[in-house]
Amino acid sequence: MKAKVVLAGALLSLMIVSCEKKEEKAQGTPKGETKEAVVKKEERQAEVDKGREKGQEFKRSGAYALADSKGCFACHDVQKKKVGPAYVEVAKKYAGKENAVEELVRSITKGSMGKWGSIPMTPQPVTREEAEKLAKWILSLR
Ligand code: HEC
Repeated sequence: MKAKVVLAGALLSLMIVSCEKKEEKAQGTPKGETKEAVVKKEERQAEVDKGREKGQEFKRSGAYALADSKGCFACHDVQKKKVGPAYVEVAKKYAGKENAVEELVRSITKGSMGKWGSIPMTPQPVTREEAEKLAKWILSLR
């Protein structure tokens, strides 16, 4: 008999908990947030997730390791602006441009100034072949 009472009590509290959860869901949005804000947030999160996936993907590529070993990430990030522009932004800017690879190879080996802001990039210690590999990789990051 006692066991039954305990069991009934446990069941009751379980039901209460699940009801409360449902209520939260029914309300939908956390306090102070409009539906649009939540949708925007979800979209942003989806973008971030996509970026993260891309980041993982490119970490496995040889060009990422090369960029890493040449110290490019001291000033660049794939997704975020650091001292220099984010590589995804570079890829976007040069999307569809005919001589994009050439132009980036030149920037990497000879340096770049005034294209992204007031800080210049000095010539990087890479060979032409390495610069080409890096440029192609960066351009693929869109
Ligand atoms: C000391 C900081 C620093 C390092 C290290 C660095 N960069 Fe940069 N990079 C910059 C800055 C600052 C800019 C923006 C220059 C400008 O405004 O023209 C830039 C611009 C670029 C651009 C865009 C150039 C263009 O023509 O639009 C590419 C591509 C690039 N860097 C690739 C690299 C690669 C690859 C490496 C490694 C081999 C590297 N960077 C290392 C600071 C750096």
